Amino acid sequence: MSATPHEAAKALADGALILLPTETVYGLGADAGAPEAVAAIFAAKGRPRFNPLISHVADAEMAADIGVFDAAAQALAQAFWPGPLTLVTPIRDAGRVCDLARAGLDSVAIRVPAHPAAKAVLAAFGGPVVAPSANRSGRPSPTTFADAVEETGFAVAAAVDGGPCRVGLESTVVSALDGRVALLRPGAVTREQIEAVIGPLADDGEGRRSPGRLALHYAPDAPVRIEATAAAPDEILLGFGPGVGETRWSLSPTGDLSQAAANLFRLLREADRQKPAAIAVSPIPGAGLGEAINDRLRRAAGFVG
Ligand code: TXA
Ligand code: MG
Repeated sequence: MSATPHEAAKALADGALILLPTETVYGLGADAGAPEAVAAIFAAKGRPRFNPLISHVADAEMAADIGVFDAAAQALAQAFWPGPLTLVTPIRDAGRVCDLARAGLDSVAIRVPAHPAAKAVLAAFGGPVVAPSANRSGRPSPTTFADAVEETGFAVAAAVDGGPCRVGLESTVVSALDGRVALLRPGAVTREQIEAVIGPLADDGEGRRSPGRLALHYAPDAPVRIEATAAAPDEILLGFGPGVGETRWSLSPTGDLSQAAANLFRLLREADRQKPAAIAVSPIPGAGLGEAINDRLRRAAGFVG
């Protein structure tokens, strides 16, 4: 069933879509420079076209070919690539990342993933690959091969099985534009880790102006109730910490945030398949990775983050 990285690179060169495993979540990939292929991503996901895509590249040199890196962007790239950080910089080469991929902006979001299969596909293809999370728009991101195939497998010519995603939450999106660094989407690299490299981030108000951060997002079909301390008999409780709810449904029985991040989308999907009256989720601490977990949960519950 699984395509090889070379088959996936060939499909990209032919203008087709692929399923691309990364350490965060599975992506739905296309050649960033091919407008028709990029249009097929928006169609398959049902994604609004004003929401720009992330360009994935094999290494920092390729990143510097498409974006303009100031000192802060260079420091962050050095510290966190390859890995779950996306940097938004001014666009350098608009030919290699088409207007549709950038939603017409004069900036570009760039990421160098760490997953070995992603690296192999990107090295074999040799150019930027746009890849939003492989879910249909508004739904939880897929973190297993089976979930990715179920969401958007119908649209691809090659699907690469990279196993379950180690991190399980999307990359952190940081912009470095006009000498100002801002956190646009909390994610797998924490605010604390970023501030340890470049100092205090600009205020968050910016985050709400980032395109595509819709309130109802990452949502299963069942309603999601956050900060829950108990569940009704027809609800499922996703617990956190020792002795909270059933172990099978626990985000982390030991109260470990990395484990909770890795389990979050998979358990939301599994709980949804049981068709409960609601999915109740225990309170999650807000520091470190907790910021990104709570961001996704608030959006799954329909609150503006
Ligand atoms: O972990 C991830 O980032 C995954 C994997 C597949 O790499 N990808 C992902 O892509 O989550 P997506 O499309 O679901 O999220 C991309 C985010 C959106 O919030 C979008 O608005 C933002 O990045 N973005 C992309 N280009 C931007 C730009 N030029 N300026 C500001 N935000 C941008
Ligand atoms: Mg997404």
